[in-house]
Amino acid sequence: MKEREKVARATSNGKIDQIIEKHRGDASALIQVLLEIQSEHHWLPKEALGKVSDELEVPLSQIQHVATFYKAFSLVPRGRHEIQVCMGTACHIRGAPRILDMVENFLGIHPGETDLDLKFSLETVNCLGCCAMGPVMVVDRKYHGKAAPANVENILKRYD
Ligand code: FES
Repeated sequence: MKEREKVARATSNGKIDQIIEKHRGDASALIQVLLEIQSEHHWLPKEALGKVSDELEVPLSQIQHVATFYKAFSLVPRGRHEIQVCMGTACHIRGAPRILDMVENFLGIHPGETDLDLKFSLETVNCLGCCAMGPVMVVDRKYHGKAAPANVENILKRYD
């Protein structure tokens, strides 16, 4: 089953309802509910926000404000795994462009994009604060320091 179909089923099979049910009528739980839905689906489907609005009795406009204000939330589908490639100066001179090329070629996506199976989302960052480890690639918060282009494919193949 394609990931997009799984997401569609998940949003209609009650998981969101279960999350919301725990906080029904409690507007103060808005961020918690959004975090749980984000964690479950890796993004906030529009239908889910409508249910949250109804059940927590919070205006949809307020929910959208919160969802766009915090970087932790995404209003567009995101992959199950987040990849960040550091393109800061220290990483750049140590070969970060080749790392990024390898990721792009392997996944067929560019920074800011998510693959069609909703498996990976790719971003670039300017510095991760660990320049001595450069070039650095991060997958789901796991740091891969001194990354070699030849290893990129093997690293990404570890993720389901
Ligand atoms: S430039 Fe990449 S971690 Fe600082």
